[in-house]
Amino acid sequence: MPSVFIKTYGCQMNERDSEAVAAQLVAKGYSLAKSESAADVVLLNTCSVRDLAEQKAINKMKNLVGTARSEKREQIVGFMGCMAQSRGQELIDKLPDVDLVLGTQKFHRAAEYLDELLAGTRKKIVDTAAEAKSEAAIREHLVNGSAKTSVSAFVSIMQGCNQHCTFCIVPATRGEERSRTIPDIVAECRELVSRGVKEITLLGQIVTSFGKRDIPALDGKSAFVQLLAAVHEIEGLERIRFTSPHPKGYGDDLVEAYARLPKLCESAHIPLQSGSDRILKLMHRGYTREKFLGIIQKLRAAKPNIGIYTDIIVGFPGETEEDFEQTLSLCREVQFDNAYIFKYSERRDTPAATMPDQLPQSVREERNERLLNLVNEIAAKKYDSFIGQQVQILVEGPSKKNAARYTGRTRCNRIVLFDGSVRHQGQLMDVKIERTGSFTLYGDPAVVNL
Ligand code: 5AD
Repeated sequence: MPSVFIKTYGCQMNERDSEAVAAQLVAKGYSLAKSESAADVVLLNTCSVRDLAEQKAINKMKNLVGTARSEKREQIVGFMGCMAQSRGQELIDKLPDVDLVLGTQKFHRAAEYLDELLAGTRKKIVDTAAEAKSEAAIREHLVNGSAKTSVSAFVSIMQGCNQHCTFCIVPATRGEERSRTIPDIVAECRELVSRGVKEITLLGQIVTSFGKRDIPALDGKSAFVQLLAAVHEIEGLERIRFTSPHPKGYGDDLVEAYARLPKLCESAHIPLQSGSDRILKLMHRGYTREKFLGIIQKLRAAKPNIGIYTDIIVGFPGETEEDFEQTLSLCREVQFDNAYIFKYSERRDTPAATMPDQLPQSVREERNERLLNLVNEIAAKKYDSFIGQQVQILVEGPSKKNAARYTGRTRCNRIVLFDGSVRHQGQLMDVKIERTGSFTLYGDPAVVNL
């Protein structure tokens, strides 16, 4: 039986797509290889959100092909996902050893294409065409395939994004918004729970726009909030999360859902992108600084311990020192639990790439560093505030770095390490936080159980 190794770049949606492709291949008789060099097939699941992510995958492919050739190994290699979708045939023109380019609406065809390539009935396959209903075609899960997935699972609820932020390549890589139906999603979640899953993260590029065109609001509740309520009813499911939302989706119905639905965890990853109204407008984000602050206030009023995370882009075209200072001041005001900072990267065919006043790399770097210092300082204070607190964690499994330690997450999405054993896996348990490390909390269950 042929073996396959999938390496994933980018977001949680990509992780989910890789897992679904792996599960599909396993169902068709493939095995999962332990390493790239031991695999008959290597697939790179790619990210296009910044140039750096694309370069990483291209360099990886060059290395793979070079190593296989020098070791005289036959290996089928392919790109899948976002860069495969946006570059298509160009990837094979550039790297002629690549056998397969599989777009974001074609994951469910992976086994069929690999069978053909392995049998030699086709030499090269590029498929980036749109396919109706592909959003519902990714269903297989590898539950129990790894310790982590048996406790916590991702479920894709929609594909694509119609927001068209001027910096963003996602509408080109994932297409127009298409949502699955609520019963279809609930059935998948139920199945996962029956296989031991306790926590589900609902995924999409803009989850708060879920079902907007197809499912009318009901008693003032958006389609997305209706979905949360439907998933919440599943017996045996303990926790619900979702990512990524858009700030404009945080209506009162969603804020109220945090208060009403106890399984909905107190954590939100709400992308800010900039603290300057002028830049937010150029980005086509559809909200102001004040509106964003209002959302945070409402969420904290509903759930004082909510963990609030964000994404910020520095060095967008035309961003002045004053604009950047608005971002700094907003971060001071909000006190994010953590923020992911990105240096603006020109993406092909996006409006921002041709805007005037593209900033020099040195300015992007300098602002990145200044913002990072501020964000880290705030994040460290937030981490320290956990010391001495008792928190509930869901135990995922042994820590990757040290198998004697077990890892779990708080409801507000912090990682907690503790001295555990296999009997803790999948348990909801209380621990007392004793100390902090870099982006980690260390807990002691014994202190709670005394
Ligand atoms: N340049 C830099 N960062 C970007 N992001 C999206 N597009 C770009 C770009 N062109 C960031 C945004 C988004 C995160 C996933 O990636 O902050 O929220």
